[in-house]
Amino acid sequence: MTLRHETDVLVIGSGAAGLASAINLPPQVRILVLSKEDMKAGSTNRAQGGIAAVTDQDDSTESHFTDTLMAGAGLCDPEAVRFVVNHGAAAVNDLVSMGIQFDTHKSELHRTKEGGHSHRRVLHVADATGKVIAATLIAEANRRSNITLLNDRIAVELILQRVSDEAKQVVGAYVYDPAADRVECIRARSVVLATGGASKVYLYTSNPDTCTGDGIAMAWRAGCRLSNMEFNQFHPTCLYHPDARSFLISEAVRGEGGKLRLPDGSTFMQRFDTRQELASRDIVARAIDYEIKRLGIECVYLDVTDLANAHVEKHFPTILERLLEIGIDIRKDPIPVVPAAHYTCGGVLVDQHGRTDLDALYAIGEVACTGVHGANRLASNSLLECLVYAKSAAEHIAEWLAHTPDSEPDISDWDESQVTNSDENVVLTHNWMELRRFMWDYVGIVRTDKRLERAANRINMLKGEVHEFYSHYRINSDLIELRNLINVAEAIVNGAQWRKESRGLHFTLDYPEQGHDARPSIQCPPADPLDVLQPANAIV
Ligand code: FAD
Ligand code: SIN
Repeated sequence: MTLRHETDVLVIGSGAAGLASAINLPPQVRILVLSKEDMKAGSTNRAQGGIAAVTDQDDSTESHFTDTLMAGAGLCDPEAVRFVVNHGAAAVNDLVSMGIQFDTHKSELHRTKEGGHSHRRVLHVADATGKVIAATLIAEANRRSNITLLNDRIAVELILQRVSDEAKQVVGAYVYDPAADRVECIRARSVVLATGGASKVYLYTSNPDTCTGDGIAMAWRAGCRLSNMEFNQFHPTCLYHPDARSFLISEAVRGEGGKLRLPDGSTFMQRFDTRQELASRDIVARAIDYEIKRLGIECVYLDVTDLANAHVEKHFPTILERLLEIGIDIRKDPIPVVPAAHYTCGGVLVDQHGRTDLDALYAIGEVACTGVHGANRLASNSLLECLVYAKSAAEHIAEWLAHTPDSEPDISDWDESQVTNSDENVVLTHNWMELRRFMWDYVGIVRTDKRLERAANRINMLKGEVHEFYSHYRINSDLIELRNLINVAEAIVNGAQWRKESRGLHFTLDYPEQGHDARPSIQCPPADPLDVLQPANAIV
């Protein structure tokens, strides 16, 4: 018998998007929030730079709107951008009312600058903004008696109920408990996907291990459309050091005056953009990639040695301390940096309430594609988007719950009658590495038709192998994530092959110019049974 839980709203993910959704729901609604590791797992806890919002009289929402559109290279949905920037100050006030104290300077909020912003508008708590936001949201959720937080559960598959020949409604999820090595069933009247991004599909990433695109893959398999998956953002400056992988050096470091240099000490950004170090991320990442390939070097350097020590110590204590641990004193030494996969701009297509194509299923945060980021996200707009859409979704869910009768679905047990324990997990570890390497080499910062075709061929092969594995063996965490990453890789390559132009983060040598017609790439759910890869009992 499959263990069963029941709740009103199942929130899959405990980052800014998931916790803010839960906190904004009314107190009479029972909510279960899952995380596949502890509650702090995910990107939110790692956010450094801060949250972009207009809080200064010299700034304006019009300017934030224009900067976001400029970064997005013609693909942002202007309505979605207006919605987010107009709610920026309110989102910040919500955080302040929960107890967050953003940094100040002479009794004014201190606003830092990041690439693509024409004003100083990024509020922050030194360089550990995400850590403070995560801790505050967790504490707030813990205070609410209607919210239950459950660690170490990996959602495997959404459970669907047919409501008509065409329409399906989500009624819960199957969830794997690695400690007990069993699949449980969580029945819910509404499900919020808040599983974060998918940058682990690349070999080098700033993201934590949780970012395997689980929500994107689950939603796609269940019948939701995806949008703009080809736009994966590469952050220009991740630390390049064998003992400290996946550590970001915040863009705020350049915002406060940090300079990018080649190994001989010369600067180079002036050759690529008049905004130099503060050009938008796609431009800076491509410039670094170009110089690394041109000179055959391993990294470039980010130099803050010209800044006052006190300024560095005050604004970047986390970066300073982390690098001192590996013998780099950023007050005296330049920091070795390379670009790395950082943010999934595409995702599950949603409307202004985070509604997906399936009834009762919402997607919030990095898992979603709201239209705010277009072809390239403006720095520090992500936390803002998480909070604004979480609130809007919570309002919609509350209405929906109040006016929709419970469908009382009859959900089958998870079916393990056809599978055994695997004695060949090497297939999983090998395929994980292979996937992440060829995605980096063929579907990275600079693409070509040939490279994309090579990646597509390999994805097809891996899909077959993983399908076979999934059909014969009991699931485990690695298999769940690998299967999701393969779906995500396929969606990225599909989008990239469809886009016969270079735009924002998608740059291809075969079509180096931006086309006249700006169109999002929208992918329907897969029809091939090999793509679907879901147990027969997932539809009730
Ligand atoms: P996450 O915070 O990633 O949370 C995802 C949650 O989903 C986790 O709890 C995870 O355990 C859970 N999960 C995933 N899959 C499953 C599953 N199958 N079952 C159960 N649970 C699951 N943005 C900014 O705006 N400003 C910044 O300064 C900034 N700095 C950044 C620095 C770094 C190093 C990184 C990596 C990102 C940064 N970003 C920043 C981006 C931003 O942090 C993220 O986009 C945002 O936090 C995503 O929030 P989220 O709630 O959507 O997902
Ligand atoms: C950073 O601090 O550079 C990350 C900001 C972001 O990803 O928005």
